Parts: sequence; structure tokens; C-alpha cells
Amino acid sequence: VRHLVGIKDLTESDIQLILDTAGQFKEVINRPIKKVPSLRDVTIANVFFENSTRTRLSFELAEKRLSADVVNFSASGSSVKKGETLLDTVNNILAMKVDMVVMRHSSPGAPHYLTKHIKANVVNAGDGTHEHPTQALLDSFSIREKLGDVAGKRIAIIGDITHSRVALSNIFCLQKQGAEVMVCGPKTLIPKYIVALGVKVSHDVRAALAWCDVANVLRIQLERQQIKYFPSLREYSLYFGISKQMLDDLDRPIVLMHPGPINRGVELTSDAADSSHSIILDQVENGVAVRMAVLYLLAQL
Ligand code: CP
Repeated sequence: VRHLVGIKDLTESDIQLILDTAGQFKEVINRPIKKVPSLRDVTIANVFFENSTRTRLSFELAEKRLSADVVNFSASGSSVKKGETLLDTVNNILAMKVDMVVMRHSSPGAPHYLTKHIKANVVNAGDGTHEHPTQALLDSFSIREKLGDVAGKRIAIIGDITHSRVALSNIFCLQKQGAEVMVCGPKTLIPKYIVALGVKVSHDVRAALAWCDVANVLRIQLERQQIKYFPSLREYSLYFGISKQMLDDLDRPIVLMHPGPINRGVELTSDAADSSHSIILDQVENGVAVRMAVLYLLAQL
């Protein structure tokens, strides 16, 4: 496959290859000289039609650590605002001799559409509520780093499952590696198609925390909700918010993850997010090595 559109398309051995390669790149970027020449003379465009902090910076750093030439595009401030289409925008960027496109878009399926129309490699940096493959890969890398393996582990994904691309990519990625997955949240935020993937379901956050080895906590995505504020943020935080005390009270330690951005005081209290249970900033650190691995491996194809 010349593209990374979703984890659904990957085999277990593809995932292991990416994670193993990321492990090697993590060693490289912890050295005093962080740069390798692997993608010299490769030009990569980061094309972001939706806001991002972590993913965008992480891809840019990964590309620069691999010695690629990098151009960045945001829809805001571009000719998209004058009515230019996605395909015209990307083809105009490609006319400047770009080899790879990393794209974030609000429409599920937008990266898949691009793969049908352009010759460059396409990497999905998050497409609407569909997939966020590099987030799932960095989450698995972080679990493996912390717990030794993903296989056999119990992972609870807690929060707004309906509007989360992180949830779907994580479910595919974790199940392919032999983990048990539970989704936990209000009934209104767990869709039937997710239940059909063979995950456990809970509406009780304390039960989910007691069951799991890892809690991957997601924010409520108000910007994607059709029915606003149901449940309200206050209700959500009352019934599903996780505090440090809840984690401290468990019989055994669990690992706390969050893809960011955190809505402090809603899905996590600050003392939980900043506690010793949390590997949230390790996830961010690992994102650079994982994205280096993805770009490096795609460039070999
Ligand atoms: N985790 C994640 O995708 O964060 P950003 O939206 O800031 O890129």
C-alpha cells in the first residue's frame, strides 16, 4: 500500500513493522544529532483543512528529522476561502513537485478520495469522525513502551466514541494486536457500528477503570455534535469525569492516556492529567518517532 489512510487497511505485521521502526527512530532522535538523511530530496506537503497542534507539529518535526523538504498549508488564509476545491488545491500543491501529502480534513473519506486522483503518497492525519491512524499507532507504541506488549492487555476507551476518529483507529489497531477493548461513555455517545466491532461496552466509568490496564480518555467533541450539549459538559464531568482520587483508589495501577487536546475539568481533572498515572506527554513525544517510521516506510514503496 502506497498510502496510510486507515488502520483498517493494515495487517498485524504492518503494525509491528511500523512500531519496530519507530523504536529505532526514537533512539535516533534522542541522540545529540537528531537528523538522518533518509528522506533527502523528498518533498512533503502538510495540508491541514482542520485545526491541529500535536499532529501538525509532530509530522513537521518528523519530516525535518528525516531531512525532507517541507511545505505547510492551512485552509484558513488560503484560496479554499475563495471556493477552490480539495482536488484543485492538492493538484496545485503537487504541481510544485511534491512527493507526499499529509492531510487532515473534516470529511470522512477525503484522504481515500485523494489516493484515487493523485500520484503522491497520501497520509491521513485525521479525517472527520473516521480514522486517525498515526494517533492509534503512537498510542500502541506508548502502551508497548510502558507495559511491554499490547497483546493480552485490556484497554478502555472512555468518552465521546461517536465523534472520535481516535476511537475507531485505536479499536482496529488494538484488536489486530490481540488486545481486549472496551468502550465506555453515555449511551448517546456510543454508536451501534462500534459495538458491532466486538468491543465490550460500559456506561459505568468506575467499572471500566477497574477492568482495564490502560484508560485512553477522549474529549467531548462539541464541534461535531448535531444535538448540542447532550449530555451537558457538567453532566458528563459528573458521571464520566476521571479524578486522580479515582485512579489512586483502584486495586492496581493503570496507565492513563489521552490524545489531546484535554478539556481539563470535563473528562479529566487536572490532578489526574498531571499525575504519575499519566503518559500523555510520552504519547506526544512518541508521535514524532512513529510518524518518522510511517513516512520512511511509505517512501520505500
Ligand atoms: N491528537 C491530536 O490529533 O491532536 P491535534 O488535534 O492537536 O493534532
